[in-house]
Amino acid sequence: MEQKSKFVEQALILSNQALSSDVYRMVVQSPQIAHDSLPGQFVMIRLSDKLDPLLRRPLSIAGADPQKGTLTLIYRVIGRGTQQMAAAQTGASLDVMGPLGRGFDLSASRLLLVGGGIGLAPLLFVAERCCPRPVEVLAGGRTKDELFWTELFRDSCQSIHVTTDDGSLGVCGTCADALPALLANGRYEGVLTCGPRPMMKQVAALAKAAGIRTQVSMEEHMACGVGACLACTCGAADGGSRQVCKDGPVFWAEEVDWS
Ligand SMILES: Cc1cc2nc3c(=O)[nH]c(=O)nc-3n(C[C@H](O)[C@H](O)[C@H](O)COP(=O)(O)OP(=O)(O)OC[C@H]3O[C@@H](n4cnc5c(N)ncnc54)[C@H](O)[C@@H]3O)c2cc1C
Ligand code: FES
Repeated sequence: MEQKSKFVEQALILSNQALSSDVYRMVVQSPQIAHDSLPGQFVMIRLSDKLDPLLRRPLSIAGADPQKGTLTLIYRVIGRGTQQMAAAQTGASLDVMGPLGRGFDLSASRLLLVGGGIGLAPLLFVAERCCPRPVEVLAGGRTKDELFWTELFRDSCQSIHVTTDDGSLGVCGTCADALPALLANGRYEGVLTCGPRPMMKQVAALAKAAGIRTQVSMEEHMACGVGACLACTCGAADGGSRQVCKDGPVFWAEEVDWS
């Protein structure tokens, strides 16, 4: 889980497309950050010409191409910052600080990626970096409208398993409902997960019961993103605390105080 230096770049927005009614994919030109980014790391962003909201927002790096110098971000519109992003036009400028935090350990030879909703964004970068090593993904969504994830993972994953809350696609339920059957095949040496906290807790417990270690990517509220404000402090299993922005966002599941 290497940590490199960070940069602030005014990144040119190359594209900003809707993937569903409230999820967008933005590609920006950000050569230094793209060069140094590792799967699991994140960036702090805001539109360069906006001072409201003043604070940058954290987004996972969903892809980085060091040759082209591009970064991919996939975001759900939930508040003022992400509304402004969705309205941003190609050619506008995004203020990007990163890469930040500690990423995933990708040393296990066969990985299962388990993502719920927008938690699939950092796992996409994992799948692309690992390719052509065999990687599988278990993608959980609310309805089949989130089918776009299967398209995004198609080129980099050997198998794509899907769950939806309403059963409109794949297994009816959450990732945790579909996981036991997958773990029973004994193929995986590591599980990487990102999504709602209860889902990650269940995923980690199921993987542990199957003898597999899990890494989790935590998404706490953040203000500074660099370890200066303590906004992202969370409890650790050893009784201490961790700053998600600096010590994470990726942790081994056994490091986290799930209570
Ligand atoms: C390390 C990290 C990586 C992330 N990666 C992604 C990503 O790849 N794609 C993506 O869409 N989102 C991601 N998020 C969440 C994203 O940062 C928030 O959705 C974003 O900051 C919302 O900004 P806003 O101005 O649109 O909404 P705000 O106006 O700031 O918030 C709107 C509502 O969302 C709540 N909220 C804001 N941030 C969070 C959070 N972190 N957890 C739970 N509730 C929150 C607020 O309390 C408020 O109720 C990530 C968060 C972290 C910490
Ligand atoms: S967000 Fe400021 S310390 Fe983590």
